[in-house]
Amino acid sequence: MLLGVTGGIAAYKACILARRLVEAGAHVRVVMTRAATRFVGPDTFAALTGGPAYTDPFEEPGAVLHVRLAREADLAIVAPATANVLAKLAHGMADDLLTATLLEATCPLVLAPAMHTGMWEHPATRANVEALAARGARLVGPEAGPLAAGDEGPGRMAEPEEILRVAEEVAASGRDLAGVRVVVTAGPTWEPIDPVRFIGNRSSGRMGVAVAKEAFDRGADVTLVLGPGTVEPPPGPRVVRVETAEEMRRAVLEAAEGADAVVMAAAVADFRPEAPAPSKLKKELGPPEVRLVPTPDILAELGAERRARVLVGFAAETDDALEAARPKLAAKGLDLLVVNEVGRPGTGFGAETNRAAILAADGTEEPLRDRTKAELARAICDRLAALLRPSP
Ligand code: C5P
Repeated sequence: MLLGVTGGIAAYKACILARRLVEAGAHVRVVMTRAATRFVGPDTFAALTGGPAYTDPFEEPGAVLHVRLAREADLAIVAPATANVLAKLAHGMADDLLTATLLEATCPLVLAPAMHTGMWEHPATRANVEALAARGARLVGPEAGPLAAGDEGPGRMAEPEEILRVAEEVAASGRDLAGVRVVVTAGPTWEPIDPVRFIGNRSSGRMGVAVAKEAFDRGADVTLVLGPGTVEPPPGPRVVRVETAEEMRRAVLEAAEGADAVVMAAAVADFRPEAPAPSKLKKELGPPEVRLVPTPDILAELGAERRARVLVGFAAETDDALEAARPKLAAKGLDLLVVNEVGRPGTGFGAETNRAAILAADGTEEPLRDRTKAELARAICDRLAALLRPSP
């Protein structure tokens, strides 16, 4: 395991990560940039890993150190990864031991960015991160929270435990969706009654966001079409924000062009006010009559046109969930239907866990009880990977 440490205050947390990696049984080699040594001394890492922490490409006379380190690594982690190292890696620069090693290395790469919010959100950093992710690097974090200089916002390095978890996942080679294009929808839609009021639902977007994150982490190229008022999207997937069912329809149809799979986890409103009032309806005029008309059924449209190879729908049901859901599989031309029981405490909309089942077009039914949304997302991606794998 190669652990690259670059110059940010989060370098102190890299010490904990080094320790956890050693505890997990990894043989850890540390490479530090010069700036990193301003925050933590190489001797700290040497003591934690039982081997030298390298900084200088010419440290071992007679050896081509960056080549040796690159060849020895089964996995490389850069934590913290500054905006500077992300830029250098994105552009193939190799002006120190760490970047030279990573340019030579062919192993999977995990990056834990840490920087100030402005640097993280700068279009240059966004482009660098996208380029690295597109080449298969796995990003973990950053998270929002306190930053150096008393500031607060996205940019804080993910916790060592989370980096370790991701590293273990990558090491277990979970990139079975690499090269696959997935469109995921999440959240509710809001259908306007007038400029300030709307008809919506309680969807938090958590389920779809979990699927988008999982698919991205497994190497997919993910477009997340996200409804309003939802949880924050994960870093990585391309995010298209929409508000109404019609906007979602347009975004999904466009993104689905050439996609391998569409996962419709959004709780699209079934009805919308026929004619939203152009100005705010006055209370004094009494209760308005709002005539509702159906919204377009996006999934049915995708199913009829077979725009993507694999179509996954969701069904949220309060009673006899499976019975109620079964006919939808064929009716909407789906490959998989994820059935969720909603309306009971602790499950469904806004909750952390789901009681669910996956129904498949081949007639199989996989019950999934009391799973977290992340676990459910994993199960869905397992099925996607199996369906998209070319048959032998
Ligand atoms: O028929 P029902 O609304 O229960 O189906 C739910 C599934 O259909 C979900 O996957 C949802 O995202 C999708 N849907 C849709 N367009 C709608 C309503 C639901 O794509 N207008």
